[in-house]
Amino acid sequence: MDKKIVYSAVQPSGNLTIGNYLGAIRNWVKMQSEYECFYAIANMHAITVKQEPAELRRRTLELAALYLACGLDPENCALYVQSQIPQHAELTWTLNTIAYVGELSRMTQFKDKSQKHAENINMGLMDYPVLMAADILLYQAQYVPVGADQKQHVEIARDLAIRFNNRFGETFTVPEPLILKGGAKICSLQEPTKKMSKSDENPNASVYLTDGKDDVLRKFRRAVTDSDNEIRVSDEKPGVSNLINIYCAFRGCTTEEAEREFAGKGYGDLKLAVGETVADVISPIQQEQKKILADKTYLAEVLKAGAEKAYKAARRTLSKVYRKVGFYQGE
Ligand code: TRP
Repeated sequence: MDKKIVYSAVQPSGNLTIGNYLGAIRNWVKMQSEYECFYAIANMHAITVKQEPAELRRRTLELAALYLACGLDPENCALYVQSQIPQHAELTWTLNTIAYVGELSRMTQFKDKSQKHAENINMGLMDYPVLMAADILLYQAQYVPVGADQKQHVEIARDLAIRFNNRFGETFTVPEPLILKGGAKICSLQEPTKKMSKSDENPNASVYLTDGKDDVLRKFRRAVTDSDNEIRVSDEKPGVSNLINIYCAFRGCTTEEAEREFAGKGYGDLKLAVGETVADVISPIQQEQKKILADKTYLAEVLKAGAEKAYKAARRTLSKVYRKVGFYQGE
């Protein structure tokens, strides 16, 4: 039987945090063996807010190298750059004609970003979910692994798929979101009731995948805890709970095991252990990423092979769509 199809993408903007690693990257890697996976670097989404062109290009390659360093296997998935597949823009246009201004203007992320970038509320920002729907639907994806903040966008993709299928006949697989749990629990080290975010203004709040060991240890040393000295998971102890959760996620242990391990020890011991555990995982990834980035030919080959796989699938779907809507495609 054919493998089910998984689609996801990540924007080449902002520094990825250990929350992104636990929530998104690790899951992408895990899914490769079981599903047919298409993974994109969503640079077309990225330009809906202002980007420095040279930086966008650099980040695109850095992100591709990072994902490879984390274990994406080019033999087992298609890793590609969104803008290299013209069908994304083409399908977006077609889907635009069945997407309503009302539904797009009600999207949470559009409203948030309009506030944050009030000087640049461009059409692309509003159309973001339609481009995302085009991404997903082009590949006939069944599952879309995303963080909880992207659930509403996958729902729009579902709505558009169903609407199109109803109007023009069966064309698209209706995708389902797979909401990633792992990363959702990772909170800011400074305000541990808030999610750790790659756009946090306080650099001590987030641990980035690119942080060196000294920075990692320092950030954990400064992490907010509380005034009693008991190492256990509890709603009343968000800071300590967060540290234990991070420790467990990186160690692959349960919270009970961690609580036992740290019984009788102090917060300093916990902070040091978490810091070292995290650094031990991310340091080799950083070295591997550096190696990949140094080999430009290899990286270009991987992205080209990914784009070729993606192109084949995308072309098949778009051609079907054009037939259904009545576009002339030559004889
Ligand atoms: N909007 C997603 C994010 O910011 C990135 C993305 C773009 C995406 N296209 C996608 C995710 C398609 C899943 C499927 O995280």
